[in-house]
Amino acid sequence: MSERKLIMLPGPTNVPDRVMKAMTKPIISHRSVEFRRLFEEVEEGLRYVFQTKNDVYVLTASGTGGVECAINNVVSPGDNVVIPTFGVFSERAKDQVLRRGGMPIELTIEWGEAPTVERIREALEGREIKAILIVYNETSTGVIVRDLPKIGEAAKDSGALLIVDAISVLGGDKLPIDEWNVDVCVTGSQKCLACPPGLSMISVSERAWEVIEKTPARSYYFDLIEAKKHKVEKETPFTPALPLYYALNEALKIVKEEGLKKRIERHAICAKAFYEAIEAIGLKPFPKAESVRSNTVIAINAPQGVNVSEVLKLMDEKYGVVIAGGMGKLKRSMFRIGCMGMISQEEVMITINALERALNDVGFRLKLGEGIKAARSTFSRHA
Ligand SMILES: Cc1ncc(COP(=O)(O)O)c(C=O)c1O
Repeated sequence: MSERKLIMLPGPTNVPDRVMKAMTKPIISHRSVEFRRLFEEVEEGLRYVFQTKNDVYVLTASGTGGVECAINNVVSPGDNVVIPTFGVFSERAKDQVLRRGGMPIELTIEWGEAPTVERIREALEGREIKAILIVYNETSTGVIVRDLPKIGEAAKDSGALLIVDAISVLGGDKLPIDEWNVDVCVTGSQKCLACPPGLSMISVSERAWEVIEKTPARSYYFDLIEAKKHKVEKETPFTPALPLYYALNEALKIVKEEGLKKRIERHAICAKAFYEAIEAIGLKPFPKAESVRSNTVIAINAPQGVNVSEVLKLMDEKYGVVIAGGMGKLKRSMFRIGCMGMISQEEVMITINALERALNDVGFRLKLGEGIKAARSTFSRHA
C-alpha cells in the first residue's frame, strides 16, 4: 500500500474520507426502494450543482463516455457541428464527432487562447448547424471560455444546440446551465466534485430532447431515451456502479453544505494564490491573457532548460505532491496543477513549497520562499 500523497492533478483529485467511506456501504438491489431513494437524492444534488431544472443522468463511464453519449444522442451522421479546437480535449471531441459520422466545422484556435462568441457567430452564418460543442475548460492548456454565456445566446438565436464539456470545471467555476442556455452538459466525478473517478453526469434540456428523439441509431449503452424511460421508475437501464453512486451522493452533499457560491469563490481565491505565487517564483502561466486563465487548472510554462519529468519525480517522491506535466505537444514544456475539489490554503501552500524546492533542486535559480510569500499575501487579502 503506498503512502498517501497530496494529489494536485487536474483530476483525479483528493477525495474526502467521508466520500471514500460511503463506498463501503452494503450493496443493495438496484431495483429496490433503497436504490430509488438514493437515485432521487443524487438527482437533487446534481440539479443543484448543475443549477438546472433539466433532466440529469449518471453514466457508468469516465468523462469521455459522457462526451460520447452527448454526441451520439444529438448528432446524426452528416450533421454540422461547430467546434473550436484549442487543446487536446477539444481535438478529441472533434474526433468523437467524426467517429459518429458528424461533420465538424472546426475553428482552430491557438493553444493558450480561448474561442470568442464572434468566431462562433461567424461559423453559424449561412448554413444549418445541429450543435455547437464547447470544451468550457480546456484542461490541457488551462484555458477557460469566458464567452460561454454569450455563446449560449448565439446558440439559442441560431437554433443550434449547445453541448458543453464541463468535465474539469463544474462545481469549481460558474456554470448556471439554464441561465446560460446550455442544452447538454457533461461533467466527470473525479474533478471539482472531489469524488473518485468512474462516473460522468449529463444534463439534457427540453430543446435537446426534441433533437434526441429524432436521432437515428443512438448508442445502445448510452441511449438517453432508454435512460429517460427508466428514470420514471427512478432506475437506470443497466446495473449502476453502486459504490460510486454512494460516493457521488456524499460528494454532492458536501457541495450543498458548503454552498455552490462559496465553493466557486474558494476555487477562485486558491487559483489567484497559485497565479500570484508562480509569477513571484519567476514562472509564467501558459494562457496569455489573464482573462482566459482557468480557476481549476493552473497551466504553467516550464522554464527553459528545466526537465519537466525530473521536477515531477522530485515533487512526487521527495515532497509527496503529485502534479502533472503537459499533454500532447506541450508534454515536456508545461506543468499543470489541479485547483479542484477540496482545495484550500493548506494544499496551495504545500504545493507551491514543493514546486519551489523541486525547481531549486534541479538548478533553477529562484529565491526560495517568494512563491509562498505571494500566496500567503493573496489569502490574507481574501480572508
Ligand atoms: C475537458 C476534459 N474533457 C474530457 C476529459 C476526459 O475525461 P476522462 O479521462 O474522465 O474520460 C477530461 C479529462 O481530464 C477533460 O479534462
